[in-house]
Amino acid sequence: MTEEISPAGGVHGVVSVPGDKSISHRALMFAALAIGETRIDGLLEGEDVLRTANAMRALGALVTRDGPGVWRVTGAGLGGLREPEDVLDMGNSGTAARLLCGILASHPIFSVMTGDASLRRRPMARVMTPLSETGARFTARDGGRLPLAIEGAVDALPLDHRMTVASAQVKSAILLAGLNARGTTRVEEPVPTRDHSENMLRHFGAQVLVGAEGGGRVIELAGQPTLRAANIVVPGDASSAAFPIVAALTVAGSRIRIEGVGLNPLRTGLFATLREMGGSVAIAGTRTAGGETVGDIDIVAGDLRAVDVPPARAPSMIDEYPILAVACAHARGSSRLRGLAELRVKESDRLAATAALLHANGVGVAIEGDDLVIDGAGGAPRGGGVVATHMDHRLAMSALVLGAGTREPVCVDDVAFIDTSFPGFVALMTGLGCRFA
Ligand code: S3P
Repeated sequence: MTEEISPAGGVHGVVSVPGDKSISHRALMFAALAIGETRIDGLLEGEDVLRTANAMRALGALVTRDGPGVWRVTGAGLGGLREPEDVLDMGNSGTAARLLCGILASHPIFSVMTGDASLRRRPMARVMTPLSETGARFTARDGGRLPLAIEGAVDALPLDHRMTVASAQVKSAILLAGLNARGTTRVEEPVPTRDHSENMLRHFGAQVLVGAEGGGRVIELAGQPTLRAANIVVPGDASSAAFPIVAALTVAGSRIRIEGVGLNPLRTGLFATLREMGGSVAIAGTRTAGGETVGDIDIVAGDLRAVDVPPARAPSMIDEYPILAVACAHARGSSRLRGLAELRVKESDRLAATAALLHANGVGVAIEGDDLVIDGAGGAPRGGGVVATHMDHRLAMSALVLGAGTREPVCVDDVAFIDTSFPGFVALMTGLGCRFA
């Protein structure tokens, strides 16, 4: 499913983006472990999250859709999951696969998990290795790849784990295993990562203590809490908002507002970076919904200057580097995005694929170690390239946003994967003034 986008004469309008992907996965999973019925409003109905809904059904929760974005989950209760009759297929979703490994590690059932070609290439040892310490047994393909089989622990041990990669998925998997373990589970993270699991576990009644330690955090979860159903309103996904935001900043004459975006401080590194580049990104009307900060974002196009992004900022904008690279392609000067090793193990090798995306469109780019160096055009880049998306939704959207602001159209080889996180992306961008062929 190829798509071509032609240069736009400015994007304008007021829009909202689909629900947050991280929060949507967690809402379905945690509600499935709670007692009672949880109503979820604003659930992201993207392919990734629908995989989680199906998995939780297969494990015994009652999961129903009442209407657009409105879902109800009646939980099986902590420890109450049943053995799935078939293989759990997590599609393209690393979050679904890794968080579910955590849940399954401390439930005494047997399960087998797989995913699409992209997910089957991604590393699972980062969760399997620590989770094995609970007493669970994991068997996977060579290199710790899916498909894998899990024999959950009968009486799971709580973990005390110091994170070696900055990953909210690994942290969450360990905490989720700790839910059905006796005693306290403890995770140390040298660099804070998104804390949606911690926030939502509290919302469902678990005791989660978070302390600061040398720039990082220590999280302690008391095992075997009674999780009670608790309604959730899912905010708009800041990682999805990033695409229209960069379109509005880079296409001359643009001005847009995006309403109801989640502004968890561990997710907003991109906004800080775009402001450092001179971008006009203003937050209005902040409020709290479902334990998360939400606000509206106003963006006005303007000249951007190059930026140097430190590695410590990566966890707060880990999914936003491809679209930040597009902003850097427009900026005046040479940008350096540092410490991007984790990008190599996303839905694709995003470091290589982002460099290829820019190169195909006439932008000077280099990978130096784990850094991405981009020579900004100081205005509209050439464009005219065909971009390979490698089953990666964020690369597809980044390429299309680039094409809204280049001198020549940009073609994307496969846009089907956009539905994993941002169903309606092309329609939303068309409504703002983009022209697709
Ligand atoms: C996510 C964490 C991040 C991010 C992913 C969603 C989550 O992955 O890239 O899209 O919901 O916890 P890592 O934890 O592997 O960095």
